Amino acid sequence: MRRLIASDKAIPDLTMANPQPLRSPKTVVFVGLMGVGKTCIGRRLAQRLDIPFVDADKEIEEAAGCSIPDIFERHGEKYFREGERRVILRLLDNPVHVLSTGGGAFMDPQTRAAIRERAISLWLRADLDLMLRRVSRRNDRPLLQVADPRAKLQELIDLRYPVYAEADITVDSVDGPPDVTLERVVGALAAHIRRNVVAAQ
Ligand code: S3P
Repeated sequence: MRRLIASDKAIPDLTMANPQPLRSPKTVVFVGLMGVGKTCIGRRLAQRLDIPFVDADKEIEEAAGCSIPDIFERHGEKYFREGERRVILRLLDNPVHVLSTGGGAFMDPQTRAAIRERAISLWLRADLDLMLRRVSRRNDRPLLQVADPRAKLQELIDLRYPVYAEADITVDSVDGPPDVTLERVVGALAAHIRRNVVAAQ
């Protein structure tokens, strides 16, 4: 592997000093817990990259013909997870886009392997209070319809963070304007792409 040298003309300069349109060679898949802002930031990233944005949960709802709470209620979580895997594997066949996935998707070994092989995974992480504030605005997340959503989120943090940590990129979401988090995402993605260009040379 060659080292990154500032004067190396072969390496695309993606810094703010010399902005070039950032182009992702692969679909960028957002993973992370409920309420971190995967859809909000994913949509903005897609705009920035000028590529389509797809929300996996919406696609699952469309394929099932009903909402996620209804899928959980009528058929159970196992059925939802199977549909989730099928839909994401299908979406990964699409041309390069930004894909936001539900918090449990990356926990599935087959889905995770497919994402690893065919996409760039980005774990968007936020602290517990921020997630709790965001998820309490809506009641459409079946896993959080419990007496103590904070305890449930903490349980999911303990269970899922070691797996989310396998993502290619980790970005901490900022409690503030989405554009601040977006800039972090763009910077981290640019650095990841640059590292891989260098590694491939
Ligand atoms: C889930 C997260 C939800 C949705 C479903 C299950 C999870 O998506 O897929 O309610 O297991 O964490 P968001 O992460 O987009 O809220």
